[in-house]
Amino acid sequence: MSQAAIFERIKQDHDCHRELLGKLAETSGDSEERRTLFEELTKELKGHAAAEEQSLYAEMLAVPDATDETRHSVAEHHEIDEMLNDLAATDMSSPGWLIKFKELDHRYRHHIDEEEEDHFPDFADKIDEELDKKMTASFNERKPVEKAEAEITPEAEEDAKE
Ligand SMILES: [Fe+2]
Ligand SMILES: [Fe+2]
Repeated sequence: MSQAAIFERIKQDHDCHRELLGKLAETSGDSEERRTLFEELTKELKGHAAAEEQSLYAEMLAVPDATDETRHSVAEHHEIDEMLNDLAATDMSSPGWLIKFKELDHRYRHHIDEEEEDHFPDFADKIDEELDKKMTASFNERKPVEKAEAEITPEAEEDAKE
């Protein structure tokens, strides 16, 4: 099912993330705007990744042909979480914040492009209508809950490795 509803739903979120990243790149210093947008980005990205794992990836992990790609994506979710936490631990008014933000921006755009262009087309023939409905319902149910529960957790990257 290349036109599966779950892919369309996830892509909607990805487009919202691209827009948020674009807006954040325009902010400067320790401003109210940068704080608000960064909080929204963190909750969106963490909530999205959790809902994606609980709906799409939980099912794909069980499909032998899709296991490797699933593991790859889940590992990237963990990396992105660590980058968000490291950014939260960085002074917003320092030049280092924007440098780290740009690394995250690059990493995250690569992640969602890879999902859309490589993983989803590979998953398409493993999904029938029933599974598509189940995963879409699960994603829609989990996303708002996970987003509301997601937290800004400042942790410098060197501490995360310990
Ligand atoms: Fe993802
Ligand atoms: Fe995604």
